[in-house]
Amino acid sequence: MIVAAVTQTSIGILLVGIAFLVAIVWAAVNLRQGRAEVGSEIELAPNRKPYLPDEELEGRKLDRTLTFGLLGLFVLGIGLPLYWLQEPARQSNEVGNIKRKFVDRGAEMFAPTADGGYNCAFCHGTNGVGGVTTYTITDSEGRFVKEVQWQGPALNTVLMRYTRDEVRYVLEYGRPFSPMPAWGTKGGGPLTEQKLQNLIDYIQSIQITPKRAQAEVAKQLTKMMEEKEDACVEAKTEAAQAGLTGDALTNFDASSVDVSSCPPKWKSQGEALFNMGYDDGFAGGAYSCGRCHTAGWSYGEKEADGSGAMGPNLRDIEENFPGLVGYEQQVDFVCTGSAEGVRYGRSSMGTGRMPGFCITPETKLNDSNGEVGIEPKEAGLAEDGAMLTQDQVRAIVEYERSLR
Ligand code: HEC
Ligand code: HEC
Repeated sequence: MIVAAVTQTSIGILLVGIAFLVAIVWAAVNLRQGRAEVGSEIELAPNRKPYLPDEELEGRKLDRTLTFGLLGLFVLGIGLPLYWLQEPARQSNEVGNIKRKFVDRGAEMFAPTADGGYNCAFCHGTNGVGGVTTYTITDSEGRFVKEVQWQGPALNTVLMRYTRDEVRYVLEYGRPFSPMPAWGTKGGGPLTEQKLQNLIDYIQSIQITPKRAQAEVAKQLTKMMEEKEDACVEAKTEAAQAGLTGDALTNFDASSVDVSSCPPKWKSQGEALFNMGYDDGFAGGAYSCGRCHTAGWSYGEKEADGSGAMGPNLRDIEENFPGLVGYEQQVDFVCTGSAEGVRYGRSSMGTGRMPGFCITPETKLNDSNGEVGIEPKEAGLAEDGAMLTQDQVRAIVEYERSLR
């Protein structure tokens, strides 16, 4: 090391020395050549033409040069400060531009395959309002079991229930037991971190407000509470149809059957909320609990409510949330959802996959992931609530605690 350094230094000094010598020699030669010969230039050499006369030099030409000088001073003295004044605004405008660019890129990826996108819109609906897709269920050895219609949850509320990082995790690894593929390179998919960010940026841009989400839930809940038990409605319809033949049978209007004496389909608001979207695909089941906590829920073949799927079995939930304190803890848990590595209940630890239903997480860019450009959105902040109200979550928690 030291030897190398010493040789390098001496080579350096040598080079400087040579350069210095060359400069001196060049200057000396130059000076010698430049010295006027005796008697030169008394007359103008034949190869030189006379320059402008003094009147002109000191008149128009001088004025022009001075004007240019003055203009230059203006540029320096006024233009530069003006540019500096503009600078902060220029930078913040650029942030806005980047944001728009990112959202546009995300929108292109979200689009159906036919439009050059990755088809998110096919399963999750245009603008992420929820959808449905055909899916082939296979057994553990990959053999065909059956083909089903699997609901794709609405994504225009997804940042009310998950943080950006939790959404990124879903995109990165997908949901391997469902139609949702892995998109990130870590999960074996095709998309880079930057592309995943732009998808989330787009998803952020389509979020509806908590107020609107809650209004839609209220409307759907009212509709569900008026529904009557399927078996009873069927029996009454069959009875009314009995004996009808021909045209009378084809023209039969099922909605004319009086089913008012039938028991309600959903026994409580909690049960209805738990299963919101099961029958009619409302928001692709995004507001429900069943899509994760009941096997078969997403394709219309649900087993006993809360018997467990990706989310754990909720029967005997009181063992994890005992007593009155446990009840309140359970409400808190369903309101905020789980976070990776954070304890909940008596003896469980979150993975970040359980969504939060009545508190919208703050929009935070992930610095360590190099996220840039997207500012927190005005609407949809924590204090506005989220997809459900706390009272609705209480109703669900009571239903869950009644499951046996
Ligand atoms: C083939 C259909 C399909 C495609 C294509 C698809 N998804 Fe999904 N996605 C699903 C289904 C189904 C689920 C819910 C899985 C379940 O039942 O747990 C889901 C879940 C999600 C979730 C989690 C939402 C939640 O609340 O649980 C996000 C976020 C998501 N998808 C984003 C995307 C994005 C972005 C794309 C496009 C790059 C995409 N998906 C493409 C079917 C699809
Ligand atoms: C997107 C899937 C998903 C949805 C939707 C979902 N959960 Fe969960 N839930 C989970 C997962 C996964 C866990 C396990 C904790 C974890 O992994 O962080 C969990 C855990 C729970 C637990 C604790 C269970 C225990 O004993 O460990 C309760 C209670 C619960 N969820 C209630 C609900 C309620 C109520 C809803 C609807 C309002 C709901 N969940 C909707 C995925 C979901």
